[in-house]
Amino acid sequence: MLKNDQLDQWDRDNFFHPSTHLAQHARGESPNRVIKTASGVHIEDRDGTKLLDAFAGLYCVNVGYGRQEIAEAIADQARELAYYHSYVGHGTEASITLSKMILDRAPSNMSKVYFGLGGSDANETNVKLIWYYNNILGRPEKKKIISRWRGYHGSGLVTGSLTGLELFHKKFDLPLAQVVHTDAPYYFRREDQNQTEEQFVAHCVAELEALIEREGADTIAAFIGEPVLGTGGIVPPPAGYWEAIQAVLKKHDILLVVDEVVTGFGRLGTMFGSDHYGLEADIITIAKGLTSAYAPLSGSIVSDKVWKVLEQGTDENGPIGHGWTYSAHPIGAAAGVANLKLIDELNLVENAGSVGAYLNQSMKDALGDHAHVGDIRGEGMLCAVEFVKGRDSRTFFDAADKIGPQISAKLLEQDRVIARAMPQGDILGFAPPFCLTREEADTVVAATARAVKAVLG
Ligand SMILES: Cc1ncc(COP(=O)(O)O)c(C=O)c1O
Repeated sequence: MLKNDQLDQWDRDNFFHPSTHLAQHARGESPNRVIKTASGVHIEDRDGTKLLDAFAGLYCVNVGYGRQEIAEAIADQARELAYYHSYVGHGTEASITLSKMILDRAPSNMSKVYFGLGGSDANETNVKLIWYYNNILGRPEKKKIISRWRGYHGSGLVTGSLTGLELFHKKFDLPLAQVVHTDAPYYFRREDQNQTEEQFVAHCVAELEALIEREGADTIAAFIGEPVLGTGGIVPPPAGYWEAIQAVLKKHDILLVVDEVVTGFGRLGTMFGSDHYGLEADIITIAKGLTSAYAPLSGSIVSDKVWKVLEQGTDENGPIGHGWTYSAHPIGAAAGVANLKLIDELNLVENAGSVGAYLNQSMKDALGDHAHVGDIRGEGMLCAVEFVKGRDSRTFFDAADKIGPQISAKLLEQDRVIARAMPQGDILGFAPPFCLTREEADTVVAATARAVKAVLG
């Protein structure tokens, strides 16, 4: 066993952490928590400190930690066949079975699933498929993708461009020219505070129409969106938003990519966010909840409409020139099969809906009247608390005050509960595993109220 101080030093000397203040970390100014084990909704570090993970890792460990059924499935698969590729028609029992299980659960207009490793590469695949699609249809100019400010779709070149958060663009020469952004459906942050929800939806639609008009509909291939904005602040859409947006997209023959990396497989209390909001996707992105992060696996679920054109494309041009060595990796696929079975057996989608609603209501009961809480919102097993300087004037704190990060740090320090300070705004996010109990939800809420009191009074 390594001595603790050695591991700490090795970490700072050797490990390039994602989404981390690199200089502070190297200087030893930021925490270095080494996670050793986990069970249910709790993780434990190497010093034996147990933490309640109310963000399920990065909203991905949906079935909870320590599920032996998934671990066994992974081990069995590794023993029997750790790897074979899926190029030129090859498959494994696990990857074929998982494709069928996904399509059985997906909206009925979906046709096939392409497997990748994470949400970013799946969205990268989607953009390539959309460009290919329009080339095959003889529309080489129709290539731009519309995304929303505050959307999160990954951090690659095109996916980092789709992501509508400043941190992911700044100094990286992003967004690329093929990506254009429109307004976030973020009612609480609307500019005109006198707007009703309905008027705000009309405003979002008008902004989208104006963008399409400016760019020219014949240059726009697709619109990408998460059913509920995730990393951008955990923001459910205002009533009627998706219906109105879809009408615009249909009118201009613009494909809809629904990024269900967070919402897929139950987080909203429904199998897909598309079911939840009546979305008719042309492509659906899946990742996190597909394996509950027991192994890296993502997917692009392609609709009949897109699939037909892809088939036509290969008849005209030969095999599709797209694939990763690890596409449909058998270990990821075995984890996916075991994970989806477990979700069904334990009724976890329903639990995400009912305990999620309880969590949201309890958070409102505990903090709804606080002078510095501007908004408490959520859907299913997603919840966010947004802090404001002045409640009536809806003024925000300076980003430099780091109110959100301070509260999440206090929550961890006082009660060992993990919530996520969302990257843009003073927003505390909760996305627990679906197996969260009401008692555990009570613990999360009570701890949050204590942390808010400690920081904001
Ligand atoms: C909606 C959404 N899409 C895509 C991604 C990117 O996934 P990954 O981090 O696996 O590349 C994320 C990650 O949080 C996400 O929330």
